[in-house]
Amino acid sequence: MIRPSLTDLIPSRLPLIQAPMAGAQGSALALAVCAAGGVGSLPAAMLSPEALQAELQVLRQQAQGSWNVNFFCHPAPTPDDAAEARWREALRPFYDEAGIDPTQVPAGAGRVPFSHAVADVIEPFAPPVVSFHFGLPAPDLLARVKSWGSVVLSSATTVDEARWLQAHGADAVIAQGLEAGGHRGMFLTADLSTQLGSFALLPQIAQAVDVPVVAAGGIANDDGVRAAMALGAAGVQVGTAYLCCPEASTSALHRAALMSEAARHTALTTLFSGRPARGIVNRLMETLGPLHPAAPAFPLATGAIAPLRNHFEALGRTDCTPLWSGQNTSGCKPVPAAELTAELAQGFA
Ligand SMILES: Cc1cc2nc3c(=O)[nH]c(=O)nc-3n(C[C@H](O)[C@H](O)[C@H](O)COP(=O)(O)O)c2cc1C
Repeated sequence: MIRPSLTDLIPSRLPLIQAPMAGAQGSALALAVCAAGGVGSLPAAMLSPEALQAELQVLRQQAQGSWNVNFFCHPAPTPDDAAEARWREALRPFYDEAGIDPTQVPAGAGRVPFSHAVADVIEPFAPPVVSFHFGLPAPDLLARVKSWGSVVLSSATTVDEARWLQAHGADAVIAQGLEAGGHRGMFLTADLSTQLGSFALLPQIAQAVDVPVVAAGGIANDDGVRAAMALGAAGVQVGTAYLCCPEASTSALHRAALMSEAARHTALTTLFSGRPARGIVNRLMETLGPLHPAAPAFPLATGAIAPLRNHFEALGRTDCTPLWSGQNTSGCKPVPAAELTAELAQGFA
């Protein structure tokens, strides 16, 4: 079988997808990347139905070329009072320091999985591309998305996940190397020892599946793009490098951390959501250890952290802030997304 090119599958000038980054960008960054010839993405995991609809309207009216909307499809967790109490106890020194009573902190889910209710919101927009993290939605829901003509993508962190995604209907697979910022898309295993860096993961996934493979993780400039294409990628998905562009909504504290020496030390942590995600090491990660046994199931860990995050951020500190970042921040610059996209595009020449 001849593998289709990414730009045949997703019409755009460049086989370059701007990674969806929940909490750090909206339609403004997506529009800028689309205008520069790439595929812009809207992360929808943390948007209310109203906010999602408003963003989709902007993209439909203004996007040039193909754009992507991204959802999480994790199993909804069952809240567990005892587990929540253990988590708050682990955080107690931080609550004491902040003068917060943990019994007054409301539980908050933060992220809801893709559902028929969400599909109702996006159906009228028939997004050109819909990408998922943590696997794929149930077959009937996936069939619904495909019935609009949307191209479906999802992240694989192992060869087994790539094969699974192809077998279950993904039109292309994103090979998410261990260097990547944000949440690991892992869904067939919770064992972190299975997770491979991009140089090992990409060629093995490219060999294992027939659909186009999009490389993600650690790509920060045109040389990174060239390396990914040489290792069998049909295109690239770049996240971290876009975080300091003016069109991103990355907070000032997060931008400062990304541009500092602190960004040289990232780790996978479960503290902020319950699932492993890569971020710059901060005081909470140093104190509790980045992978904590008491962190509740995704995304329930978020609620207890929220007031601590707010408390320290009000003081101009990132002690309890998730500073999502990949291992390679060398591409983070305060330049327009069009400029960064043009630089990355040289890697396809
Ligand atoms: C701040 C941030 C937020 C992210 N949020 C999402 C998300 O909402 N959905 C998703 O599929 N991937 C998310 N990711 C992961 C990206 O899709 C991608 O795998 C990663 O950015 C690629 O590696 P890089 O950051 O080294 O470029 C996020 C990454 C970052 C850095």
